[in-house]
Amino acid sequence: MAAKPVVKRLVVLVSGSGTNLQALLDAIATTGAEAYGAEIVAVGADRAGIEGLARAERAGLPTFVCRVKDYATREEWDAALAGAVAAYEPDLVVSAGFMKIVGKEFLARYGGRFINTHPALLPSFPGAHGVRDALAYGARVTGCTVHFVDDGVDTGPIIAQGVVEVRDEDDESALHERIKEVERRLLVDVVGRLARNGYRIEGRKVVIQ
Ligand code: GRF
Repeated sequence: MAAKPVVKRLVVLVSGSGTNLQALLDAIATTGAEAYGAEIVAVGADRAGIEGLARAERAGLPTFVCRVKDYATREEWDAALAGAVAAYEPDLVVSAGFMKIVGKEFLARYGGRFINTHPALLPSFPGAHGVRDALAYGARVTGCTVHFVDDGVDTGPIIAQGVVEVRDEDDESALHERIKEVERRLLVDVVGRLARNGYRIEGRKVVIQ
């Protein structure tokens, strides 16, 4: 009898509209968790009432909210977030538009297993306004980067990148929408390959087996 394929457990963290989360949900529903290599076991957020959480609820997934303002210190929030995620025993954690920097305890548990997607070609334009900053700088190409999270801001080892041309008529919102089309496909592809094939991180290089 053939061995049952291993399905990796994903917790996805969101802060907003959750279209990257939706892309993962759709890919897993279409492909099947076994063929994709992963399933989403829970969705967490740093705020309530967002479309990202509504998407998770419509998919029948458990959700949790961990708000910075509910904790006395940032460290306590970080430990609570790490605990909330740990309750679902994920193999990989995906920050899909999660707009918070995690701290020491979270990274101690999930370093090397925590993936972020950023809407610029890192190391250019890190931080919360990657699209706006690329546009203001006059870059002619920008894009998105899927990377592992380390203790810097968008500085961890790069897994994959997608390129998007900047058009003369672009404003931040038009450019971000085109980046997100590429970003959703890239994230679905990367998470699936990491889950199915396994990987190792050698310094700044990510080798997917
Ligand atoms: C993405 O472009 C992500 O890179 C950025 O915020 C956006 C999230 O979009 N940090 P969504 O919530 O997945 O629609």
